[in-house]
Amino acid sequence: MSADTNVPSLLAERKPGHALPRPFYTSSEILELDLAAIWYQEWLFAIPSCEIPKTGNFVTMQVGEYPILIVRGADGQIRAFHNSCRHRGSRVCAAAKGNAPKLVCPYHQWTYELDGRLLYARDMGPDFKPADHGLKAVACRDAGGMVFVCLSDTPPAIDGFVETAKRYLGPQRLTDARIAHESTIIEKGNWKLVLENNRECYHCAGSHPALCRTFPDRPGFTSMDETGAIEPLVTAHWRKCEAAGMPSKFVIHPSHQWRFARIPLLGAGESYTMDGKAAVPVKRLANAPFADAGSLLFFHYPNSWNHFLADHSIVFRVLPISATETEVTTKWLVHKDAVEGVDYDLKKLTEVWIATNDEDRRVVEENQKGINSPAYVPGPYSAIQEDGVIQFVDWYCRTLGDRVGGGAAMAAE
Ligand code: FES
Ligand SMILES: [Fe+2]
Repeated sequence: MSADTNVPSLLAERKPGHALPRPFYTSSEILELDLAAIWYQEWLFAIPSCEIPKTGNFVTMQVGEYPILIVRGADGQIRAFHNSCRHRGSRVCAAAKGNAPKLVCPYHQWTYELDGRLLYARDMGPDFKPADHGLKAVACRDAGGMVFVCLSDTPPAIDGFVETAKRYLGPQRLTDARIAHESTIIEKGNWKLVLENNRECYHCAGSHPALCRTFPDRPGFTSMDETGAIEPLVTAHWRKCEAAGMPSKFVIHPSHQWRFARIPLLGAGESYTMDGKAAVPVKRLANAPFADAGSLLFFHYPNSWNHFLADHSIVFRVLPISATETEVTTKWLVHKDAVEGVDYDLKKLTEVWIATNDEDRRVVEENQKGINSPAYVPGPYSAIQEDGVIQFVDWYCRTLGDRVGGGAAMAAE
């Protein structure tokens, strides 16, 4: 490793409360470490479970070097596998998503059950044992309709998170949803810039005219932490929603890896639409007795943030492509019985976040271009506006440092 990308020394010299040193955003070597120490170790958001509602429905995804296959079995269970045939390694499923009664490798037609067992392999001789050649499993958990996968053979504990997610997401009824629209964009920026940008709304007034019609950009709403003052409007909203059976109070894991908290929208807005009215006024996705339930915000590091509204939900997945390219996939979920053109207008449902994603892409790409300059010096975050970013980069540095060295320097902060 060159001196430039020596992570323990970079972490040791990092100034708390400041943006990261340049190599964290530009270096392919550090991306490799990010992948090995974080992306191949942590639970990652993969898909909403409603994306594969029926037996044989599958989706594929790529995490760093690992192609992954997620499929619903005949028993209704969702499982994940390494998408690599146990014959000579071909990807078993090439499509982004599809439906298959059995998983048939396209190369020599080895045929797997939906639970990964090898059923059939032609002319392999009498000594061949199919039972030894099932697809390799990837850890997989459904957390209230959000499917998470983990590439580690010893995944971190997740039961507590799954319980909390089930409680908070229950009334959002993600299991009764379907995908009304999805978009995948590539942002030419490091994955941490994408996350940092998401964790603050300091930029919102200048960048997001459509979102700011309903999304409150005040720090008291958007960057809550255990110690920060929470605006009375927010606590009153929690009381109203909790009384109606919707868990809403801020809850965060001690490591800061994930958080749920509900916020009201501006002016009793109902949804992220140009007029603030619900995009799906009647067949609401959530089990909410009123339309202005606000947005249940949920992030999970390293790769997801989400907005669960009364009428619909929007889930986001982030995956690194290279040191300076990141894939962001957005899915708009509506109730499965809501019919496009009858119960909602697709443009009204999607236009605010399509615009917001593109605006975020542009600020992330400009951020990356400026950091690429040798003249870049990490500047201070605003403790008032960017405490969410500070919390994210601290989590990142602590997690990376604990696994590659340099964690002690962070612990002494
Ligand atoms: S590589 Fe899959 S059947 Fe040969
Ligand atoms: Fe933004």
